Amino acid sequence: MPIITSIPQASARLKAGALLAFPTETVYGLGADASNATAVAKIFAAKGRPANHPVIVHLADKADIKDWARDVPARVWTLLEQFTPGPLTVIVPKQPHVLAAVTGGQDTVGLRIPSHPVAQALLHDFAGGIAAPSANIFGHISPTSAAHVQAEFAEDMLILEGGSSSIGLESTIVDVSSLAEGGQARLLRPGHISLQDVCAVLGEVVDVQAPQANVPRASGTLARHYAPRTPCYLIDDFALVEAGDAVLAYQAKESDAIGAIEDVVWHRLEAQPHAYARQLYAALRQLDASGQRRILIQAVPTGEAWRAVADRLRRASQRKL
Ligand code: TXA
Ligand code: MG
Repeated sequence: MPIITSIPQASARLKAGALLAFPTETVYGLGADASNATAVAKIFAAKGRPANHPVIVHLADKADIKDWARDVPARVWTLLEQFTPGPLTVIVPKQPHVLAAVTGGQDTVGLRIPSHPVAQALLHDFAGGIAAPSANIFGHISPTSAAHVQAEFAEDMLILEGGSSSIGLESTIVDVSSLAEGGQARLLRPGHISLQDVCAVLGEVVDVQAPQANVPRASGTLARHYAPRTPCYLIDDFALVEAGDAVLAYQAKESDAIGAIEDVVWHRLEAQPHAYARQLYAALRQLDASGQRRILIQAVPTGEAWRAVADRLRRASQRKL
């Protein structure tokens, strides 16, 4: 029973105040009715997530945004026109009715309109906001398939089937909550939609990951996050590979140096950032399950195209070997 395909059944569960894991184009979400505080509390209990961390509210359509947000400036509407439905979350001033359980007690709310057809069908049928973080135990790797969600939670978790997530990394988060008062937009989490994409519409956007930036309360910004249970290290050089390691790479090993070492599990992803991102979490789960002593991840190229991937790899890793 836990994996279902019926939209009306999934929607009825949410209406009844139960949790439902559902697919999006980024990662699977662990959803609850965003207007039901008891239901939202179940998300935090299931994930083991601190209760003061805000969760994103998922909506069917841009027209729903005014029901949740106040003071959305024209530039933000342009941003939404351009990139939603899609892998973008905007942090905006909230309407008074938005629950503190959703916002972590803040005066802002994160809103996202996913493009995944199953998520769209669910949201239209549900006709309300679905509060959802990624459907994983707090700090662990986000799920990009129904099977991944199943591996995270007890058997009674209801999961709406939607195949493999096509983007594979969590949404780009832009905090535009102070724009109406003359403040600046801030990039809280890099993603498929790049900083340049956002800057092209909003003008200057402060990058909160810059060293001097004042980092807000967002769990995706904790140093260790999106992490497998096996210790992970970033490497620049395959000479560091030893027996007992699992290796995640985007380039071919030169000659067969690694092949000669016994007991190395080797996994190669495509050397293109979007394709790499799509496969990354499934690969990390597979390597985590391989029983190897440690996971060595080949550091990806520097530069904006690899930015979101590099961010997740850094958070998954203990440190550079
Ligand atoms: O792609 C995604 O965004 C996925 C799918 C399921 O939509 N969701 C996701 O949720 O990654 P989560 O909770 O794992 O990460 C959302 C991030 C958290 O770091 C949270 O703290 C931040 O968004 N966030 C949510 N509301 C916020 C707010 N009002 N102010 C600041 N940060 C906020
Ligand atoms: Mg998450």
